[in-house]
Amino acid sequence: MSIHTPKIEKKVTLATISKMKGKEPITMVTAYDALFAQLFDGEVEMILVGDSLNMSFLGKEDTLSATMDQMIYHTQAVCNGAKLPLIILDMPFGTYTSAEVALQNASRAYQETSAQAVKIEGGKERAHIVEALTQNSIAVLGHIGLMPQFLRSDGGYKIRGKDQTDIDSLVEDAKALEAAGAFAIVVEGVKSEAAQAITQAIAIPTIGIGAGNSTDGQVLVWSDMFGFFETFKPKFVKQYGNGAKLVREGLKTYRDEVKSREFPSDEYTY
Ligand code: KIV
Repeated sequence: MSIHTPKIEKKVTLATISKMKGKEPITMVTAYDALFAQLFDGEVEMILVGDSLNMSFLGKEDTLSATMDQMIYHTQAVCNGAKLPLIILDMPFGTYTSAEVALQNASRAYQETSAQAVKIEGGKERAHIVEALTQNSIAVLGHIGLMPQFLRSDGGYKIRGKDQTDIDSLVEDAKALEAAGAFAIVVEGVKSEAAQAITQAIAIPTIGIGAGNSTDGQVLVWSDMFGFFETFKPKFVKQYGNGAKLVREGLKTYRDEVKSREFPSDEYTY
């Protein structure tokens, strides 16, 4: 049974998100442009300008070739459209290879957009990078489990947390990111027992995607959840609308009406 939640009326801050742990599930979606960001404004606590835009916006096969310039451009658009959600810029592959490089690139995110945080993929091995950013007043959302930027080095998208050793390793990752100052962690593509263990082990919120129902919040890619991305549909994606069907039907009607000269009728004519 779903409940009707009231619209969000106040600007969401890092403190808002921290306080929600254990109290109220946190909602996050991705957005890449101002028009959709405007639709999501006041409806979700967080908007992630994900590097998934490389696939869902640019039409590439994976996220690996996304650039900092692209992420900044799309984050500016999202910030123009949405005023209330906490907006996070996803740092693309190769932009946080060391603490210095990360600091340089993440500083651009703060200087050139009004995003309130950046997201970084990686566990304990990247904790020093997260620390370098948080120590320099840049808020960081961690990302562990299945990490799309590791696609080639991992040899595919692999579900994590299938045995106790891996669950322990994921919990260590989460604790390292928490100690490094991350304000929350995206937990992607893990067995639900693993997500539960991670969520219980740390005091900062976990945001799940393909991680079951025990995380502190959920995130979905907007083009997946509204049925626009048709290349493949992972098991965890619930479609809350069939956008592709809607557009195809509308476009067919437009085409038919132009061909038959039904459009533009007097109503649409000066
Ligand atoms: O890039 C993205 O959209 C993401 C989400 C899947 C969490 O990282």
